[in-house]
Amino acid sequence: MTEQRTYPHLYGGREVSGTETFLSRNSSNTEDVLGAFPEATKEQVREAAQAARDAAATWANTPAPIRGQVVGLIGQAIEKQKEALSRLITREMGKTLKEARGDVQEAIDTCYFFQSEGRRLYGQTVPSEMPNKDLMTFRRPLGVVGIVTAGNFPVAVPSWKIIPALVTGNTIVWKPSEDVPACSYALTKIIQGAGLPAGVFNTVFGGGKDAAGQHLIDLIDEGLIDKMAFTGSTEVGRYVGEVAGRNLQHPTLELGGKNPLVVMRDADLDNAVQGALFSAYATGGQRCTSAGSIIIDEPIYDEFKERFLEAVRQIRIGDPNIHQDVLYGPFINERFYRRWLEQYDWGKEDGATLLYGDGRITEDSKPAGFEGDPDTGFYGWPTVWEDVKPGMRLFQTEIFGPTINLVKVNGIDEAVETANAVDYGLSSSIYSNDREWVYAYREGIQAGMTSINNTTNGAEAHMPFGGVKGSGNGTRESGIWVIEAYTYWHGVNDDISGKLQLAQMDTAYVDETEPVDVEGLF
Ligand code: UN1
Repeated sequence: MTEQRTYPHLYGGREVSGTETFLSRNSSNTEDVLGAFPEATKEQVREAAQAARDAAATWANTPAPIRGQVVGLIGQAIEKQKEALSRLITREMGKTLKEARGDVQEAIDTCYFFQSEGRRLYGQTVPSEMPNKDLMTFRRPLGVVGIVTAGNFPVAVPSWKIIPALVTGNTIVWKPSEDVPACSYALTKIIQGAGLPAGVFNTVFGGGKDAAGQHLIDLIDEGLIDKMAFTGSTEVGRYVGEVAGRNLQHPTLELGGKNPLVVMRDADLDNAVQGALFSAYATGGQRCTSAGSIIIDEPIYDEFKERFLEAVRQIRIGDPNIHQDVLYGPFINERFYRRWLEQYDWGKEDGATLLYGDGRITEDSKPAGFEGDPDTGFYGWPTVWEDVKPGMRLFQTEIFGPTINLVKVNGIDEAVETANAVDYGLSSSIYSNDREWVYAYREGIQAGMTSINNTTNGAEAHMPFGGVKGSGNGTRESGIWVIEAYTYWHGVNDDISGKLQLAQMDTAYVDETEPVDVEGLF
């Protein structure tokens, strides 16, 4: 048991404590408390937003290359702390150290990508229809950005929002997930310590519904937040979209997924099994990009199933702080575990067949690959269903946890149709080496991201991340595309003629001098 400290909110250049607090616990060992964190009141969230508003003009007027330099310093600071941050992620959130290092690396990559964006942020010079007049476009910051993030990627996903918002000249209030306040506190310290003026980046802690997250969303109506960026459930995303919409704002919404992974009859099955295993179970199935269904071409269904089940039987599971070789650790929290557990009723009621899995891992019910004491956290059996069809809850609903459906189809057309038969469209993948099938999938799949012969995961910091249908509202994170989400275009015309010259009216349009009649030429 470590010594328990109470941590403050970090906003307006100050440490602000709260009266009510909540504890952050090690997901793999709930006796290990990382610290107590304050539950932000509405007034505190408002103060943080006011601090961001007060800092907005100075930050917007800081030259973009300097803002880029600060983002570079943030990247260097994260890099220096990579190992410590990764260990903190593993301890607090429960993903493996290898994945935690990937989580942190993605934030570093993001910083280095956007460091030099501060030296671009290109606008255009555009010819005017009149002499002695220049037209040009500038990207302008939106103002104060409210950010609400989930707990499954404690460093990478917040950085996708924070870093581009900063480099484009916005100030920020961040409400991180209540599941990972310690990681978020550490990240805040790093960001604030990298050379940002007070009030540019502000963090408040607390829950979502009827708590800090709700307060932040409420501030849109008060005119204190100019833009929301949210990662989480489709249900909450819709709500954020409604509040933002009535204020004529366009929020960034990165929502759920039920990502299909297709395995065609010609696929390299070893590769496909490995990819399917990681897509389904890595991070305990708690990625937005985790696979929801494996859609398998009939001629290889039985062989794939057999090989996949063999691999599932060998999965190692346990406390990733202690066991380096596990594929996954515990649920992030009890709430996720309880929601995941519902699938067993759904499967039974809807007529699916349970091939493997037995709910919570306990001393009396544990797979061969489980290491350690199962009662110190919430661990789930890797679960496999078959006879799952479109329309069933197992097929339609995002389940954050280690579970996968095997779905049989015949041929590429049925594979594409089945892959699209969900209300989501975040990620997708196909294993095949047939050019035409891969092409048909690439063109026919309704998703923001598609992998060919790779997992449903694997977004890189300079590629657009986001989905279609229930997975978002069309905004994209990462790469050059995210810049659109944090800026508006300002068109400027600069007239140096010294006289009134009116567009369209005083323009020296030219009349056709010698009209040609082609038929008359011959
Ligand atoms: C998420 O689950 O919200 O592609 C982000 C991936 C990671 C990011 C996932 N690079 O799975």
